[in-house]
Amino acid sequence: MSADLSLVNVRVVNEGTITGTDVHIRDGRIAHIGPRAPAAGARVIEGAGRWLLPGMIDDQVHFREPGLTHKGDLATESAAAVAGGITSFMEMPNVRPATLTRTALEDKYQRAAGRSMANYAFYLGASHHNLDEIRRLAPGQACGVKVFMGASTGDLLVERQDVLEAIFSESPVLIATHCEDTPMIRANEARWRARFGDDIPMAEHPAIRSREACLASSSLAVSLARRHGAPLHVLHITTAEELALFEAGPMAAKQITAEACAHHLWFSSDDYPRLGSLIKCNPAIKLPTDREALVRAVNEDRIDIIATDHAPHTREEKAGHYFQAPAGLPLVQHALLSLLDAVQRGVYSVETVVRKTSHAVAERYGVIDRGYIREGCHADLVLVDPQAQTRVTPESLLYKCAWSPFEGEVLRSRIDMTLVNGVPVWEGGRVLPAAAGAPPGQRLGFDFRR
Ligand code: DOR
Repeated sequence: MSADLSLVNVRVVNEGTITGTDVHIRDGRIAHIGPRAPAAGARVIEGAGRWLLPGMIDDQVHFREPGLTHKGDLATESAAAVAGGITSFMEMPNVRPATLTRTALEDKYQRAAGRSMANYAFYLGASHHNLDEIRRLAPGQACGVKVFMGASTGDLLVERQDVLEAIFSESPVLIATHCEDTPMIRANEARWRARFGDDIPMAEHPAIRSREACLASSSLAVSLARRHGAPLHVLHITTAEELALFEAGPMAAKQITAEACAHHLWFSSDDYPRLGSLIKCNPAIKLPTDREALVRAVNEDRIDIIATDHAPHTREEKAGHYFQAPAGLPLVQHALLSLLDAVQRGVYSVETVVRKTSHAVAERYGVIDRGYIREGCHADLVLVDPQAQTRVTPESLLYKCAWSPFEGEVLRSRIDMTLVNGVPVWEGGRVLPAAAGAPPGQRLGFDFRR
């Protein structure tokens, strides 16, 4: 149980407005919003000039446990997440062994219990052979089913049409897809290999993992969802063309939603010469014009959710040639800060960033009592100083892999404090040891109806 705490004179950014007020926390929840005397013995935090945001709920991370823990684990990566203002995460199934059964899912929840700084949920992976596991998912056992409709890191891939049809018609939970057409990519790899050998320049990655491959696969996912009335969330959209598949406007009535990731909104193909394999990821970072289209789509509510796709690999792994260097980059510590930097540059409003990183995620997945600054909600909160800045240095990184594509950047704004279930976990530039023993992350609750 956390101690009482009051944040006074903060600017609460919530549900489209910015309101100067106080927020009082009791027993891990928001007890009262508005000026009133803090409870006797409560800790009082003066927040003048600072924004209070609902913590980011990141619907796409790879924390690598079990089996790949040399890259990251639930303890290290959740600590980096709270430093970056992420208070809840939903974690992907491409670990070892892959999360393909309800038993493997429960094993992950048990690993996270008492070790995660942030609140957590896990996806069940789809394969050609686990339809029964998908069918039998009870609400709350998984945040969704992850369907790799294109192969990426790991060996999860669903390419048989009959299996896709069955998943889309029967999944009781949200279907989250990775969309890239694998046969098209394999053909491109063979052509590029014939030209360059194994040592293909990293700047060729978006030509190999091509925009046509993205559009073909995203189009297939959307048509399956329409035909079966399935709840579909297409992850990490990267091209201007794909955006036409999604409706602009409020998310509430949408059966099909779309996500963009922080790195696709920040980097572009112009960055391959400088960063090379460090920004190799799937789907690939594409043209500056694609990035601009994604930003526009965020602002017109065609992109509903912004996530990270945090996918750490070691520096040694990234040092290999094109086919050796794995795809993915660590992002949770700076994704929200990169969006707040864009707010300072007038790209988005801070209210929009809060909606895409918190409210919309809670709504889409049916997360219970989180994602808003409302009385009764869990106190998952982020105190931001918009006047300060964050210098991304190697020493400040909390990832087990110990590198970041943002190294050297100075991001406008700073996260002064993160609270998870009312417990301060990040303050004064460091992760706080848990006062009462275990880190405060809890299993997320869901109320999702197909
Ligand atoms: O770049 C990526 N890395 N994309 C994925 O889909 C998987 C991820 C990983 O797990 O490394």
